[in-house]
Amino acid sequence: MRIYIEEDYVSMSKKAALIVASQIILNPKSVLGLATGSTPTGMYQELIEMYKSKEVDFSETTTFNLDEYYGLEREHKSSYYTYMMDVFFKYINVQKNQIHILNGKAQNVVTECLAYEELINSVGGIDLQILGIGANGHIGFNEPSKKLNVTTHLVQLTEKTIQDNSRFFDRKEDVPREAISVGIATIMKAKKIVLLASGRNKAEAIMEMTSGYVNTQVPASILQTHSDVTLIIDKEAGVLI
Ligand code: GLP
Repeated sequence: MRIYIEEDYVSMSKKAALIVASQIILNPKSVLGLATGSTPTGMYQELIEMYKSKEVDFSETTTFNLDEYYGLEREHKSSYYTYMMDVFFKYINVQKNQIHILNGKAQNVVTECLAYEELINSVGGIDLQILGIGANGHIGFNEPSKKLNVTTHLVQLTEKTIQDNSRFFDRKEDVPREAISVGIATIMKAKKIVLLASGRNKAEAIMEMTSGYVNTQVPASILQTHSDVTLIIDKEAGVLI
């Protein structure tokens, strides 16, 4: 695992954007795995600037997002669909039919999950997966647990995650209790993985995920067994390693 400890959030975001842009420049048809949350926002802003200055062209790129709240309409202001459109996709030239985000209102969740896995496999898998990390060590919405799901599945969110993510909703009661998330193997099959973390509240999770042990109570720790992972964190997130 390569670890870059950056001075601050801005330099973390710039480095991550450089990696994504290089991926697209080397292979314009790349399949990107994308994350939501406050952490990757700066990276998306950097990429938008690179697109505007014609340094990078997303017209042939395919994207798959990690997860979505279960029960939220795409148009809901706190859905990950809305986040991706507002923060990134509406500013770049990625084609609408090349964007994939799990449907939180799917009638049949099992079918939705199977179809998503098949779609990822049908395009040859994810070339570059961007990840954030929950303060409890979750990746996507793969929450700490005795057992981790291998493939895309419905998740019961933990109290910690509901609390942490309530800042994106008007009231804590509005945070869905469930989500749909790609599984651990869906993430691990990505050819390259870049995980971003910023702030002191991620320091414990970063320490645990680089500890030399795999622990299902810290799902990100499994990334230590992947052959191409780059961790880009700021000083505060790296304070315990
Ligand atoms: C959510 C997402 C994760 C994300 C995490 C951290 O729970 N499902 O993919 O990594 O939050 O979010 P933030 O970057 O806002 O701290």
